[in-house]
Amino acid sequence: MDEISADISKKMIASAQKKFADEERIDFIELDIEAMELPKSFLGRYDNALSFYCLHWIQNPRCAYENIFKLLRPGGRVIVTFLTYNDGFKAYLKTSENPVYKSYMKDVRKFIPPTHTYANVRAEVKKMLEETGFEVIHCSNREKTFIYENMEVLKDHVRAVNPFLHRMPEKIGEEYLNDLVLEIVSRNIIFVNKKSNNKEEASILDKYKVLVAYFKKPLNIQM
Ligand SMILES: C[S@@+](CC[C@H](N)C(=O)[O-])C[C@H]1O[C@@H](n2cnc3c(N)ncnc32)[C@H](O)[C@@H]1O
Repeated sequence: MDEISADISKKMIASAQKKFADEERIDFIELDIEAMELPKSFLGRYDNALSFYCLHWIQNPRCAYENIFKLLRPGGRVIVTFLTYNDGFKAYLKTSENPVYKSYMKDVRKFIPPTHTYANVRAEVKKMLEETGFEVIHCSNREKTFIYENMEVLKDHVRAVNPFLHRMPEKIGEEYLNDLVLEIVSRNIIFVNKKSNNKEEASILDKYKVLVAYFKKPLNIQM
């Protein structure tokens, strides 16, 4: 069986290759799932496709779904999960209006999932998958919560995933991070949490939504 693991990022591929150096079954390749054209040798070749927490980066989801369709054999099945809503994305927009941060965040909309503006995420994604040619077995937009134990934990998370921070000089970056975290916190629920040593700290309840879909390429399709 032939398996590929794909990512648009060179660094991510290098890290995966290092971590799974003993894994002979998988080829790690650089691939943009939103590309206008995929390498011909990959087309119609795979039985399954899995994608976790990636498709919220995509600005042209129709193109990404068409590409997944092209990669699969007839009857091929797909499971995807991706973020459809998080207050953090609204905090990106708000901080991008700040004159100090504005110039580093000109392309801010590129980092906000298109689903943020959909009136009915589940219905619109399902329709798009069906229009691509998939048979949708399951599609749900699920409400989830995550508790950040305290502000420092939230700040570390934001630092790890933020796409603008590396563009800023260190001092501005630190101020930006503090402002962004305050912006996120202002949209979330804060509650007092008692630790095992009886110390109290302010925890943050973050609400977000995740789309989970399971779909297949019909078996009786002309290639
Ligand atoms: C949160 S990570 C998830 C990685 C992996 N699925 C996992 O569960 O560990 C999201 C990944 O999506 C990748 N990504 C973003 N846009 C992409 C695109 N257009 N094509 C392929 N990969 C992309 C990023 O480089 C990043 O490594």
